[in-house]
Amino acid sequence: MCGIVGYIGKNKANEILINGLLKLEYRGYDSAGIAVIENNEIVCKKDKGRVRNLYNLEGINELESTIGIAHTRWATHGKPSMVNAHPHLDNHNTFAVVHNGIIENYHELREELIKKGYKFYSETDTEVIPNLVNYYYKEEKDLLKAVNKACKDLKGSYAIEVISKDEPDKIVVARKDSPMVIGVAGNDKYVASDIPAVLEYTRDFYLLADGEFVELTRDEIKFYDEDLNNIEKKIEKIEWSEKATSKEGYEDYMLKEIYEQPKSIRETIGSRLKENEKCQFDDIEIDKNYLQSINKIKIVACGTAMYAGLVAKNTFERLLKIDTEVDVASEFRYRDPLIDEKTLAIFISQSGETADTIAALKLAKHKKCKTIAVSNVIGSSITREAHYTIYTHAGPEIAVASTKAYTSQVVLLELLAIHFAEVLENNSEEIETLKDEILQLPKKVEEALKTGEEVKELANEIYAQKDVFFIGRGIDFTVTKEASLKLKEISYIHSDAYQAGELKHGPIALIENGITVIGIISDKKLVKKSVSNLQEVITRGANVIVVTDKDLSKYNFKKIIKVPETNKLLSPILTVIPMQLLAYYVSKAKGLDVDKPRNLAKSVTVE
Ligand code: M6R
Repeated sequence: MCGIVGYIGKNKANEILINGLLKLEYRGYDSAGIAVIENNEIVCKKDKGRVRNLYNLEGINELESTIGIAHTRWATHGKPSMVNAHPHLDNHNTFAVVHNGIIENYHELREELIKKGYKFYSETDTEVIPNLVNYYYKEEKDLLKAVNKACKDLKGSYAIEVISKDEPDKIVVARKDSPMVIGVAGNDKYVASDIPAVLEYTRDFYLLADGEFVELTRDEIKFYDEDLNNIEKKIEKIEWSEKATSKEGYEDYMLKEIYEQPKSIRETIGSRLKENEKCQFDDIEIDKNYLQSINKIKIVACGTAMYAGLVAKNTFERLLKIDTEVDVASEFRYRDPLIDEKTLAIFISQSGETADTIAALKLAKHKKCKTIAVSNVIGSSITREAHYTIYTHAGPEIAVASTKAYTSQVVLLELLAIHFAEVLENNSEEIETLKDEILQLPKKVEEALKTGEEVKELANEIYAQKDVFFIGRGIDFTVTKEASLKLKEISYIHSDAYQAGELKHGPIALIENGITVIGIISDKKLVKKSVSNLQEVITRGANVIVVTDKDLSKYNFKKIIKVPETNKLLSPILTVIPMQLLAYYVSKAKGLDVDKPRNLAKSVTVE
């Protein structure tokens, strides 16, 4: 949540900062601001609303400074307003701070500072930081040391940038449980909470770890540990192209990302699976003895990533015959789960920065589980915590609603299940069929994407509905969960997903004349059962739409959306495609901002 950019170099900072914030709006978009040092004074420009509003602030375009910090906010403490927007300054306008994360003890710190004579103007937790820095600077007379002392008082999570008019050629950066990277291009140095913010300037990045501090001056970058001992860090080359973070002619990132899926799935498969060969995972060392020793697989994640886990559970259990449970990270971490060294724990996170998923992973390690992170972002926090990391390689996902990351997560987990089955020598014809089908997925996804026009027509018919229900059985139920989340998060239509067999136990009371019910049907064995459940809602006046890979034309459904057939275990990768498109087109029909739905942010770095 929230996006941070910083710059020190030879160019005008305001342009680079605002440009970077525009690329980070998916992280938060209720207010934005920048602070630069001009003529030895801090100049701060901020306002409520979108980043582009910054261009209208008086004097912002005339700023000549070549050092500055910037922030786009997703409100946690205090409503979106000019006063609550970052940067925040200390009482003497000497220090400016931008902050991602949450300071849990801000109330106590604020009280302490008030006793010392400081005044507070915003409702934010962040405002304690510049005042704490001000307080410690009085004794330390050194920005880095003052920031370090202030950080020792903070409980919670933070990624911060600090500038001071007393040390006008310096940015100090610190991180704990909130991501931050430093990009370099010659003498130009960039700070960002997310790589895409500054990808147009550099591919060379230092990835900060928790507890690290950085001092950026015009001539050098110095890294320190939490006790301010010097540390060495290695530059990482980030292969994402700038093109990958632009819309490339699509109206919205979400549409671009939906249509990128044949390519992203190809990248996920990469060299892990080749025709007539065993599945290769060079990034993990898990052998037969270990797999024979475990009695449980736990998959933990949030939101869409968790729904990817629900799909994969079916394959893990079928191929490995190991009990596989899927858990929501925010519940798992507080439930004292029954896990131990006989549990393999897999954590899925596109961003690799989701606070609950990272905390869940730390708990699993503490309980002696072997851990695997599935992430899309190289070097993200989760990848540094897990024993092993496997990357989806789906390319940057910018739209808040996850689409290509989901299908890549499912594909990667399917490959992992196959790999484990091969390690266990559980060879079967089904595994060979699955492998063939996975290799055909990019082509089949291309076919499924051809449903775009008919889905758009459907969206134009249903966009004014108040409720939409999704039902399915078995593997199809996992897709209804994802379809329902997608629709509600970007169209704001209330929607729920049910196991088709559960309808009669309560939810069918909600079915009334004219309501839309969408059924997903791909499991051959369950077709008749699902069709019967759909007939029951038709009888009660529902308009039924079916997404299927079967020929169901003989039934009286209002509409049937056909996708190519594949192995049952992989069918979610195809049946979800029209559902992603439906959410997209319904949102468009309602005139909403598809990429930046209200109240949401791309990565949820607070619990
Ligand atoms: O970055 P992560 O995969 O950890 O994010 C998990 C969820 O926050 C994310 O999938 C969320 O549910 C999306 N808005 C879904 O479209």
